[in-house]
Amino acid sequence: MTGAGTAIIAEGLVKRYGDVHALDGLDLRVPEGTVLGLLGPNGAGKTTCVRVITTLLRPDAGRCSVNGLDVLRHPDQVRKIIGVSGQYAAVDEYLTGYENLEMIGRLYHLGKRTARRRAGELLERFNLSDAADRPVKTYSGGMRRRLDLAGALVVSPPIIVLDEPTTGLDPRSRLGMWDVISERVRAGATLLLTTQYLEEADQLADDIVVIDKGRSIAHGTPDELKREVGGERLRVTLGSRTDAQAAAEILSRVCDGPATFPDESEHLVEAPVTRGASALVEVVRGLDAAAIEPVDIGIHRASLDDVFLQLTGASVDAVAEEVS
Ligand SMILES: Nc1ncnc2c1ncn2[C@@H]1O[C@H](COP(=O)(O)OP(=O)(O)O)[C@@H](O)[C@H]1O
Ligand SMILES: [Mg+2]
Repeated sequence: MTGAGTAIIAEGLVKRYGDVHALDGLDLRVPEGTVLGLLGPNGAGKTTCVRVITTLLRPDAGRCSVNGLDVLRHPDQVRKIIGVSGQYAAVDEYLTGYENLEMIGRLYHLGKRTARRRAGELLERFNLSDAADRPVKTYSGGMRRRLDLAGALVVSPPIIVLDEPTTGLDPRSRLGMWDVISERVRAGATLLLTTQYLEEADQLADDIVVIDKGRSIAHGTPDELKREVGGERLRVTLGSRTDAQAAAEILSRVCDGPATFPDESEHLVEAPVTRGASALVEVVRGLDAAAIEPVDIGIHRASLDDVFLQLTGASVDAVAEEVS
């Protein structure tokens, strides 16, 4: 089950906890040098999957390899090539942030001087310099999360697995984290990232696997997933209901499907399009000829939120609420 150029391969992973199928036959492939976003609501099985890949959990069935190494047969070698961070990662509460990072460096045989330099750089990078000499038990949740991610980057691992790296972070730290992650990927790393944030998967991932109840329910590039869910729609906002009615007739004529009113009070009309740009021009002309002035007009692409809602039946807001 080696695959040239495939960094992580998981096949038919199964893990049960009593009646709960945390993993129910999950397949994954992460080509070298790419980012896979594992997207799913709370309880979907993301952490369980990460724990199997990172050798921390033995699946009931299925196989998994990292750089061609079976995780069950060669756990020590696998751990050496993976940088891991996540909800489960252990930092020593009684050591300072600096000491924790230095210790990881020493564990990876970096040598004292290099380990110290690296610890300093990472603390700076993750905006933890001021807290470097405080014991981790005094850190806030967000600071711990950042230290945890820094820990995964002490050595430059070719494969990085991050379990919800930005959950609970403030928006600014989240952007900083995205920068660090993108930097690693540009440098050639392979990344598997779990997230509940569609925006994050959209931003960072080359491929996305949407999981629910331990199974993959969709996969593709962010664009493919969005297209699958309905492609592009041309949307016009009008100033009055009368105008909206007239615009609907024009859209129905020009576009590739009947116009609908997604939100009548807003005087919004939309219709599906395949040739977005030319349809837009024709609609503008049509409106002009009918002396209708739109308030707003544009092409709307399905968002990953739409994808998520359609696939899992859970709204993103509902998921977010569950988390907080
Ligand atoms: N150690 C465990 N014991 C019992 N149930 C577990 C355990 N770990 C995970 N589960 C269950 O397995 C399912 C998947 O959990 P998890 O992998 O943590 O999901 P996610 O990370 O996507 O939120 C959930 O229903 C969870 O309650
Ligand atoms: Mg989890």
